[in-house]
Amino acid sequence: MTHKVGVIAGDGIGPEIVAAALDVVRATGADVDVRDFDLGADRFVRDGHVLDDDDLAALRECDAILKGPLGPPIGSAAVPPGTIERGIILRLRFALDLYVNLRPFTSAGVDFVVVRENTEGSYGGEGGFLYKGTDREVATQGSVNTRSGVERCVRFAFELAQSRPRRHLTLVHKTNVLTFAGDLWQRTFDAVAAEFPDVATAYNHVDASCIYLVEDAARYDVIVTDNLFGDILTDLAGAVTGGVGFAASANLNPSRTGPSLFEPVHGSAHDIAGSGRANPVSAVRSAAMMLEFLGEPEAAARITKAVGDPGSLSGTTAEIGTQISERV
Ligand code: IPM
Ligand code: MN
Repeated sequence: MTHKVGVIAGDGIGPEIVAAALDVVRATGADVDVRDFDLGADRFVRDGHVLDDDDLAALRECDAILKGPLGPPIGSAAVPPGTIERGIILRLRFALDLYVNLRPFTSAGVDFVVVRENTEGSYGGEGGFLYKGTDREVATQGSVNTRSGVERCVRFAFELAQSRPRRHLTLVHKTNVLTFAGDLWQRTFDAVAAEFPDVATAYNHVDASCIYLVEDAARYDVIVTDNLFGDILTDLAGAVTGGVGFAASANLNPSRTGPSLFEPVHGSAHDIAGSGRANPVSAVRSAAMMLEFLGEPEAAARITKAVGDPGSLSGTTAEIGTQISERV
């Protein structure tokens, strides 16, 4: 079966690591028909284009989207903050209803997955300015948490935990301070937990969870958390499990009303772009998650096995890609 894959190679190191990932995908023999989308900071600087309805319609035609990191060099004056993040990355997550951001982490003795809510919270964009530019200026930035949005994410996390050997799920939040959003999350979590009596549960405040990730990450099996906590925790989780260069993610529309999107957790690292120093493992692993979701679990497993311990791979971006492809 041919899988139509929309590829957004991205900015900075994106094109190098995505090319390596696509070579690895092809080495599995999986039948992919790639369609390239020239989107990102480079494109914006070139002609002012961000992402329009035609791009979205064409992306919707795909079975999956493989995306490299997007964004300008840090501090770039040519791209106002949020242009790419809100204009492309979040627009895709929201428009395609990619409500679960799944981020697995493994290293010696550690094997856990973060289920990050991906369409709400502080990313929802609620807020604004009053009296902007005056000395009375006010900026508000709310966090949107809907019962249905939280519930579908929490339910996904319970189902995932139930399918794993340890059957353990931890809710991470800050219910002691965020007493409205936290209360909704906790009540929803408890209500769904009643449907999954075989899944053991725990609760950690997000600050405590940062300590546990550094000191005792092996305690975790599945973590479910809100959008912003999940963003921050998964950078930390990457850093303590070998580096964000190894961290992959799946932005899933579990109801499959459209394509899901697969991307590295890290950014576009313009400082090393073109030097061959970027590690392609995050993109390779994201591609493996894509194949798994496309119903190619064998191809995905072969990639995971070929990557093995990613800390043992060395060489340039292309060399590491070739080593993985050869082992596939
Ligand atoms: C991530 C990234 C994005 C996020 C940015 C680039 C919008 O940091 O995927 O974790 O904050 O979600
Ligand atoms: Mn992030």
